[in-house]
Parts: sequence; C-alpha cells; structure tokens
Amino acid sequence: MTIRVCITGQPVIYSRSPLLHGFWLKAYGIDGAYAREEVPPEGAADFYRSLARRGYVGCNVTAPNKEIAFSVLDEADESAAALGAANTLWLEDGRLFGASTDGYGFIANLDAGAPGWDRERRLALVLGAGGASRAIVHALVARGFGRVVLANRTLERAQAVAALFGPAVVPVTLERAAGMMADADVLVNCTSAGMKGSEPLQLDLSRLRPGTVVSDIVYVPLKTPFLKAASALGLPTVDGLGMLLHQGVPGFERWFGVRPQVTEELRAHLIADLAAKGQLEA
Ligand code: ATR
Repeated sequence: MTIRVCITGQPVIYSRSPLLHGFWLKAYGIDGAYAREEVPPEGAADFYRSLARRGYVGCNVTAPNKEIAFSVLDEADESAAALGAANTLWLEDGRLFGASTDGYGFIANLDAGAPGWDRERRLALVLGAGGASRAIVHALVARGFGRVVLANRTLERAQAVAALFGPAVVPVTLERAAGMMADADVLVNCTSAGMKGSEPLQLDLSRLRPGTVVSDIVYVPLKTPFLKAASALGLPTVDGLGMLLHQGVPGFERWFGVRPQVTEELRAHLIADLAAKGQLEA
C-alpha cells in the first residue's frame, strides 16, 4: 500500500518539500506519496491528532503550525522539546511522535559544505531571532560552541530567545555584532533580509578573519547578497539550500524506512526548480 505523507502549514504552496521527498521516493523506488495540505492554525491541532484517520503515516509542519504541532505530541525528541516546536511528525503504535530537524539540517549542511567549520567552537555569531534562528542556536550549543552571540535588529527578541538557553547565548544588537566579527569562527544569517524582494542586510563583513565560514539560511536567491559579500572577501560560504535538503533526511527515514542521501543530483534537481522560477538571482 502506498505510504502517504504530507507537508502542512499555511501557505504550503511555496514549499519545496514535495520536490525533495518526491525525488527520493523515485530514486529509491518506494511506493510512497508526499502531498501538500493547507492547514490553517485554527484547525491544526485536530489535523495532527487525526493523521492516521486521514491516511498519513506522518507529516512535515511549516509556519505557522510548528508550536501547535508540538503541543499535541505524545512524545517529542530532544530538539523539539528544547524549542517547543516540531517540524517532523510520525506515528508509532498509534502514538504521535515529533522532532525538530532544522538544527540537524543546519549542522549537516555545514559538515558537508565546509568540513572543519567547527574546529574551534569558540564563538558563533548568529544574526536574526526568529524561529529558524532558535533552532540554529540550539544546534550550535549542542555542537559544543562555547559562546553563541545572537544579534538582532530588535534586541528584545534576541533577549527572549537567549533566555531559553544558558549563559553561553549572548543577545546583542546588530551594531554590537559588527564589532565582534573578528572573534567569530562562523557567521550565520538567519534574518529574512536578503530574501528575494527584500532589502539586504547592511553589515560590513571585512573584519571577519580569513577562513571564517559564512552561511545563510535564505536560499531564494541561492547566492544571497550576504553570501556574495563573503565570497568577494575570499571567505568560505555555505548556502541555505543544503539545510533544506538535510533537514528532510530524518523524516524520510522515519516514514519510508530508507535513510536518503543528499547528493549533487538532488541539489541540481532543486536548483533547476529555482532557475525555472527565476529565483536563482536576487
Ligand atoms: P523566521 O521565524 O522565519 O526565522 P521571522 O520570525 O519572520 O523569521 O524573523 C525574521 C528575522 O529577520 C528577525 O530576526 C528580524 O528582525 P526583527 O526581530 O528586528 O524584526 C530579521 N529581519 C528582517 N528584515 C530585516 C532587516 N531588513 N534588517 C535586519 N533584520 C531583519
């Protein structure tokens, strides 16, 4: 029988998860289907509680439902519990399990794209204080970074996120962050600035040390102004597309029983879609 999974949220029309999981289903010859389900937050708790009745073995969860999904879980993995949010749900013996795989995807992407990026683990500089930033800060602390500086335009939001973690996470303004560039081992843009159609972040990267790895979670455009500025300084960069690809691995393995590989072919498949939609360039 066809194993059915879906992406849920509002809107889900822009999600590339169907493309990602569809590629793997075909590549591994699995009788599975990955659908889109528009699920407004009002109906989200009911939807997740009735996954089995709807014929699904699990689902992904995107904005604005990650916290609601977490609240109806029977069991959460360590990341979901730490963040109070889940993006990957699956059923085991009728019980609803959930995980947050964004942090895993972020780390796996850097491990693959910039081996040795975490050699020092002294200071990670994270820009932005939204949901994605929270998952990444958690993952960086778990990876053993001694200090994670969380910089945000609105300091209060950075303080609220930092309060979820221990003293290793330090909230600052973007202006303060500019002065800390020289100490960073890794710099990550988790703001939506630089996304196609928005203003890029105004931040001088010239004080970063040679070899500092720079990453962006935005992948539309693929080469964000932030990554272009880093590349122009000769710094190693890792784009945000890989995080999307890697965060899908644990879910696919749970639902379909095969641990999928993130390959160049898969990446090319997603890049072809970006190109077809005119989203490669800013
Ligand atoms: P998500 O949950 O998807 O990570 P979000 O909650 O919409 O995203 O948060 C967007 C982040 O980008 C925030 O940190 C926001 O800063 P504020 O908290 O000050 O709003 C940041 N951001 C968006 N546009 C920005 C800009 N032009 N300059 C600096 N930061 C920006």
